Amino acid sequence: MKYQKSFYQIKSNDEIFEKIKKEKETIGYYNLPFQDTKEIKTFAENVKQKHIVVVGIGGSSLGTFAIHHFLIDKENDKKLHFLESTDPIDLQRRIKKIDLEDALFIVISKSGTTIETISILKYLSSKVEITTNNTVCVTETDSKLSVFAKSKDIKIFNIPKNVGGRFSVFSNVGLLPLSIMGLDIDKLLKGCQDIYNSFFSKEDYYNIIMEKARFIVENKNRFNINVVFSYSSLLDGFNEWYVQLWGESLGKININGTKQALTPVGLLGPVDQHSFLQLIMEGKRDKTVTFIKIEDFNDDLTIPNIFLEGLEELDYLNNIKFKDLINKQADSTIQAVEDLKDIPYDVITIQSQDEYNIGKLMFTYELLTSIVGSFVQINTYDQPGVEAGKIILKKSLQEDN
Ligand code: PA5
Repeated sequence: MKYQKSFYQIKSNDEIFEKIKKEKETIGYYNLPFQDTKEIKTFAENVKQKHIVVVGIGGSSLGTFAIHHFLIDKENDKKLHFLESTDPIDLQRRIKKIDLEDALFIVISKSGTTIETISILKYLSSKVEITTNNTVCVTETDSKLSVFAKSKDIKIFNIPKNVGGRFSVFSNVGLLPLSIMGLDIDKLLKGCQDIYNSFFSKEDYYNIIMEKARFIVENKNRFNINVVFSYSSLLDGFNEWYVQLWGESLGKININGTKQALTPVGLLGPVDQHSFLQLIMEGKRDKTVTFIKIEDFNDDLTIPNIFLEGLEELDYLNNIKFKDLINKQADSTIQAVEDLKDIPYDVITIQSQDEYNIGKLMFTYELLTSIVGSFVQINTYDQPGVEAGKIILKKSLQEDN
């Protein structure tokens, strides 16, 4: 008897681990936590401008925005702006808030030819002279953007070829603007290193990430929506970054020709308790939920001991700290989900609002994405699905012009 097979099977954890170890020889993001940050920090220390303007889209801005939004009150007194959309009203609104004469433009594009980024660069060039004194570019060594930068003697920070856009936050893409904003990028990378070391030495995070990935993959046909329910508005940017990382990496056709459908959703507590939570509680059982909490907000803002006529029955709120209120809201929602017994959920608790902890969280999600991608046997790092529209757009713009 002879036997031949052509079907896809979920591999063992050990097989996946070996695959990931092999993958990290060629996929660059795994090693970013161990880079030397001296050049970035030296450049950052010498930036005199007050307005720092990131011009970039997708992986070239979402990760930076996520960390900036999480740590905004820990930054220096510079102002960080993001120009990414071609919406003319939004673009003008944002530019109005920038002192163009006191701005450093950080033009970020790995490919160097992204239509949104270059359109905005062109528009900015019509408003202010783009020079070596007010602009830096972050791009691949031989991109068209690097040709432009060299023609103007503009400093270039490199994006390694083997680091994909949505996995590039811990490269110059994120580290440069974040360091200029006064954040401690070494602490950020230390968070990533600790996750890396724990995972690759098969310690705690190996078990956590592997088990989570395996559950998601084994149950992907039943629970194909992966909700991240963050109980802090500071994680709004993280949610957006997660949606891009998960969606663009995992929405693929696998080696067996099957379309994968793991769908990311990012929610914020408590706001989405008054919205999407209903769908989680009573809607179709097609969602996993990951609650993210912050253990210590390190802020004692308190509901004052105030009596309001007619609202006496809410006096139990008096003297409660907001940080305790939001965490009790999270715990109550978690308990309500637990009581239903048929919604798979987990809880990630971040110790505090700092560089180290957001580094840990984001690197964990990068590893998780890679491992899920490896389990479902897709190419996690390409994005062929977004190319078709780009080709049509280019053709149509060329025809119009
Ligand atoms: O993850 C990706 O590869 C994309 O989201 C890119 O980051 C995005 O398309 C921007 O590309 P670029 O950095 O080449 O301008």
